[in-house]
Amino acid sequence: MKKILIVDDDSALAQTLQLYFQSKGFDVLVAGTSAEALTLWKTGHPELVLLDVQLPDINGPQLLSKAKELNLPGDVVMITAFQDTEATLHALSLGAIDYLYKPLDLDALDLLIKKLDLRKKESEKLEKLTYVISETYKPKQIIGKSDGILNVVKAIVQVSRTPTTVLIEGETGTGKELVAQTIHYHSAPNEPFMGINCASILGNLLESELFGYEKGAFTGATQRRIGKLEYSGKGTLFLDEISELPLELQAKFLRVLQEREFQRVGGVKSIPFKARVIAATNKNLAALVKSKDFREDLYFRLKVFVIRIPPLRERREDIVPLVEYFINQLNIELHKKVKRIPQTYLDALVDYDWPGNVRELQNVLRRAMILSDGEVLDFDLRWLDKTSPGQLSTSSFSPEGGVPKRLVDVEKEHITNVLKFTKGNYGEACKILGISRPTLRKKIRDYGIRLKV
Ligand SMILES: Nc1ncnc2c1ncn2[C@@H]1O[C@H](COP(=O)(O)OP(=O)(O)OP(=O)(O)O)[C@@H](O)[C@H]1O
Ligand SMILES: [Mg+2]
Repeated sequence: MKKILIVDDDSALAQTLQLYFQSKGFDVLVAGTSAEALTLWKTGHPELVLLDVQLPDINGPQLLSKAKELNLPGDVVMITAFQDTEATLHALSLGAIDYLYKPLDLDALDLLIKKLDLRKKESEKLEKLTYVISETYKPKQIIGKSDGILNVVKAIVQVSRTPTTVLIEGETGTGKELVAQTIHYHSAPNEPFMGINCASILGNLLESELFGYEKGAFTGATQRRIGKLEYSGKGTLFLDEISELPLELQAKFLRVLQEREFQRVGGVKSIPFKARVIAATNKNLAALVKSKDFREDLYFRLKVFVIRIPPLRERREDIVPLVEYFINQLNIELHKKVKRIPQTYLDALVDYDWPGNVRELQNVLRRAMILSDGEVLDFDLRWLDKTSPGQLSTSSFSPEGGVPKRLVDVEKEHITNVLKFTKGNYGEACKILGISRPTLRKKIRDYGIRLKV
């Protein structure tokens, strides 16, 4: 049964209202003062409160603002006289949903009940159509409830207690760096975390970046420089995209892991290496070992403790919690107040395959949030690119010169163009082409590509 609280110091009016609402099937509570009203409001949980503007103790709007402060639920309708317009407007600004003029007539009350019914139906409809975002997540956590992600979290807890080397495997955007940081903060929070991306730096530079160098080690080495190995101290050295570490450096790094010491480039002194190593890869290292693009002995060293993060499409239960998490974060970052997401969009997000995994989800939501002004997330389903890369388009194809080219010619031409584009930088070219450095070198040799940079 619907419960109503009537707050009016005019006891005759209160009684009339009580009889009227009881005849409509309401459970009625009556209060003559604000103090009484507040107690009944707190204990009786009314769905509707009829509130007189003029009361003997504090007035209606003041009582309303108190109720709002206390987060007391229930729709509030003011009972007002013409001379109280200002106070009534004030009450509306505080969240009252409607008002009735005194003297009350039955038509006005009937109309009110109809309006309330309609309002309830509308809000139930909206409730059904939209997913309400809960606000309980804290920033920088690993979010998810799938078995896949729970196993990852379990592994993080286990490995954090030991100084073991860790290999994190996962497609792009699955959260490899996040996992590496979490291990670090669980095991050595007050020590340094040094990350280095093996794909983004060229061979020689990568070596200096890792090992550091002594003054005069090579032309341009005008003073000693400390490398990431040394900087990482008793903390963590995070080697991202380890598959791109050149073979010479793989050998050198293997020695560091075995001997737990190293020398700066051009130096003779051995420096102890005490940090934990975490390596990450989005390539299949075992396959690279087979094709001789990755050293088997280094692979075995790294493989002691492997954490594999499954792609998002294999743990769809995580999508809704991630959506909530990112929307809450983006609300703060972008000063938005999105609270709901239409069910059809949420379903589409859960169904989508996410080739770019969590990062792609984050980016799509950022785009939607930037365009959303109200409480409901604005979304364009076209942002989810359903055409997978392998899918053939049926649109017509008219090659240059009438005859399609051989695949090898296309590849040669493309590699040459990319190398021109990167001004001969192999590391960047590898990144763009999505192949490893040894593969690139082999193709350059096989195709006889010569560059004039
Ligand atoms: N389970 C998760 N919970 C919360 N945030 C996550 C989760 N997984 C990934 N993220 C977020 O998604 C983004 C991408 O994650 P991250 O950079 O760690 O991925 P990655 O695997 O290192 O990607 P890449 O291979 O492209 O380097 C980051 O902003 C990260 O914080
Ligand atoms: Mg990464």
